[in-house]
Amino acid sequence: MKVSKLWSLFWSVAGAVPVRVKIMGIILGLVLLLGLGVTFQIRASLSRTLADQLDKQAISITRDVAARSTDLILTNNTFALYELLRDTVDNNQDVRYVFILDPSGEVLVSTFGDRFPPDLLKANPVPPDQRFSLEILDTEEGLIHDVAVPIFDGKAGVARVGMSERHFRDVVAAATRRLLLTTALMSLIGIFAAYLLTMVLTRPIRGLVEATEAVAKGNLKHRAPVWANDELGQLGMAFNAMTEKLELARNELRRKEEMRTRLLEKVISVQEEERKRIARELHDETSQSLTSLMVGLKIVQSASNMEEVRERTAELRSLIEKTLEGVYDLALELRPSILDDLGLVAAVRKHMRDYSRKSDIHMDLHTIGLEEKRLPPEIETALYRIVQEALSNVIKHAGAEKVDVVLEHRGSSVVAKIEDDGRGFDVDKVMNSRKEERRLGLFGMYERASLMGGVLTLKSRPGQGTTVFIEIPLDGEKALLEERDTNSESTSVGSLSTGGDQ
Ligand SMILES: Nc1ncnc2c1ncn2[C@@H]1O[C@H](COP(=O)(O)OP(=O)(O)OP(=O)(O)O)[C@@H](O)[C@H]1O
Ligand SMILES: [Mg+2]
Repeated sequence: MKVSKLWSLFWSVAGAVPVRVKIMGIILGLVLLLGLGVTFQIRASLSRTLADQLDKQAISITRDVAARSTDLILTNNTFALYELLRDTVDNNQDVRYVFILDPSGEVLVSTFGDRFPPDLLKANPVPPDQRFSLEILDTEEGLIHDVAVPIFDGKAGVARVGMSERHFRDVVAAATRRLLLTTALMSLIGIFAAYLLTMVLTRPIRGLVEATEAVAKGNLKHRAPVWANDELGQLGMAFNAMTEKLELARNELRRKEEMRTRLLEKVISVQEEERKRIARELHDETSQSLTSLMVGLKIVQSASNMEEVRERTAELRSLIEKTLEGVYDLALELRPSILDDLGLVAAVRKHMRDYSRKSDIHMDLHTIGLEEKRLPPEIETALYRIVQEALSNVIKHAGAEKVDVVLEHRGSSVVAKIEDDGRGFDVDKVMNSRKEERRLGLFGMYERASLMGGVLTLKSRPGQGTTVFIEIPLDGEKALLEERDTNSESTSVGSLSTGGDQ
């Protein structure tokens, strides 16, 4: 529980600081840890080695003093003894004191002069049969390595030498200072290196972050800077490629949106025109006829004999027949009921026959597997309107001699193809032309096909004719509604020649 709390605390702190600070913190921490660790180790081992050396030196000096003082003690030459002690102190900078005790333990001669510390006498006693005794004394001046060596097996007394640690402590302190200085220097270099590293790492990341923010705000023109060809550079390139695709997709979407709006406007204006036409038709034709009918009926009402009634009624009948025909034609124009009643193939065939009367283009219709079948009404309408527009384009723009229309039930989809041998056109140029130049016919065809989940392909090149190919899937509910004759299968090939001679 506690560990997880600490962990979450660590993450709340580490997560809040920028990557730059994290990297610099880690590198600085490592350098400091390494530097301090090395300093501590070197200091410890140096202290041990120097302390050992000091002990050995102390023992050797004390033995030397003991050996050289034996004769002087026996001859009671105190002055020479004192000289020996002075020489020893002068020649060894670590020697803090030297003194010689007589066999009864009294100070015979010492380097302290009159101020001999009384406690020192009792410290570090040495039995006569022992070669030496070493003791580390804690004094006001620091630690002293005190060595006692019996002189002449203790019969002539004891030689004592005290070696101060001060000098070697100074050496250790100087070495420690140098190591700490090196650590500090390394830390500075580490911070600088970390700064460079974080710059190399975070700069492209910051560029990416800025680019992401720009994209989030809808600015798809912004690109992430690519500094190098490493992983971050590749990430930047991938990001830029993605934004580029997004921009293209958005532009395409906008274009489609714009075209859809224009298509809608066109549909609405066509609808308005149609209404006006119907109103005109009703006003000029139907209501005129009905008025004539009313006048006629009045005449009949006031007819004087049966002969006149018969004559007038016959006239009125023919007037009613004409009016009925007009109403029927109007209804037919509004919705080609042949599409509802007889289906796609019959409607296309009638449409082509009507067109062939108006132009001298040779028109052929081939149907495969569709003669006896009905498709879902929305697919029939979509295909009918696409074929209608394609044929209208052929008549308006192609200058073709011949056009072939194929309607085919192929596997689980329905396919239509309208192919002319006219002058063709540059599809890309027309589709990407400025909006005021662009027409809505082709776009409407694409829209109708895609609304049905199908695809429309346009193949054309100047001088090489045009082929419009549409494939619409017939799945689930869009499956064939009716199979009037299951035996006829897809082998039924209908061909209608609706050339200009008909
Ligand atoms: N079969 C074709 N042969 C030659 N050019 C064609 C053919 N179909 C289309 N085009 C070219 O493509 C252009 C765009 O056709 P689209 O049907 O979109 O517009 P439109 O027929 O000019 O006008 P509308 O919006 O009334 O259909 C045409 O202006 C024409 O230049
Ligand atoms: Mg057109």
